[in-house]
Amino acid sequence: MTFMPPTHNNNPHLPFGDQRTAPWYGKDILSVKQFDRNKLSYTFEVAHEMRIMVERIGAFDLLKGKILANLFYEPSTRTSSSFTAAMERLGGSVIPINEVRYSSVSKGESLPDTVRSLECYADVIVLRHPEVGASSLAAKYARKPVINAGDGIGEHPTQALLDLFTISEELGHLDGLTVTMLGDLKNGRTVHSLARLLSLYDVKLNYVSPEILKMPKEIIDEIDAKGLQQSEYKQFDDVISESDVLYVTRVQKERFKDKKEYESVKGAYVITPKTMVKAKEKMIIMHPLPRVGEISMELDDDPRAAYFRQMEYGLYIRMALLAMVLGKA
Ligand code: NCD
Repeated sequence: MTFMPPTHNNNPHLPFGDQRTAPWYGKDILSVKQFDRNKLSYTFEVAHEMRIMVERIGAFDLLKGKILANLFYEPSTRTSSSFTAAMERLGGSVIPINEVRYSSVSKGESLPDTVRSLECYADVIVLRHPEVGASSLAAKYARKPVINAGDGIGEHPTQALLDLFTISEELGHLDGLTVTMLGDLKNGRTVHSLARLLSLYDVKLNYVSPEILKMPKEIIDEIDAKGLQQSEYKQFDDVISESDVLYVTRVQKERFKDKKEYESVKGAYVITPKTMVKAKEKMIIMHPLPRVGEISMELDDDPRAAYFRQMEYGLYIRMALLAMVLGKA
């Protein structure tokens, strides 16, 4: 795909600018289940071009005049600010609703009414909500595209896309990799979405977690049906040496009803430079962030520590997704 700044965008042969041929125009992005390998390659190509453009000129006017409503019912640093940065780097603007308690939500307004109001002003809605299925509900009522930025313990499709893009950009390929996911695999929505996406490739998946935080059976069964090799562990020592990707997650404190149960597992794993002695030289450590002690800061200078680069890839993926659903890619 050729990616051109909008000043050159009158050419009908370019993929930019012609909404009629834009495959994602007007679509919602609710689950990674909407993606197959072709759609992923397409998204990554657009994201790659976004990266080149940002590195070359910083910002450009592809989405000039377009408005994003960034509606967050749960805390966020990276997802919310990267969507804002993505929209602004593409020349658009943002209605930020990060504190729903200061909006009409605190007066008891329903989600369908909130999204139907916001779409009167905005062209696309990004939604983070504590309930599984909230973004599908919003999409049912909204005429404009809804992008799921995390629905409770359900899915986090844009994070999984940026995670997969990170692996592909950093390691150069996806087939043949061994990916180890570690931490709160029960409540971590990022690993639910990422495991599903990875099942489109020829990968081996290892899951390391305490007994009470195992990967949900529903996801394991789904991936099993695709014939992938999956193994569960309690300790990471057994799998560090074979991992091409070590994907670390935080124990999701806010999802625990019993705080004693949280206390019993919160410090289950800590990755330190000592852990990495056994790791391959060419591998990456990822984390969706925020980290709360699972990866020691001493590891940050290790070239294999990819978690801050991972955040940057998120900007390019979110630029690509916004351009796609608004018919500009
Ligand atoms: C994750 C989330 O919100 O699910 N954060 C993120 O979007 N980068 C992971 C987490 O909160 O642990």
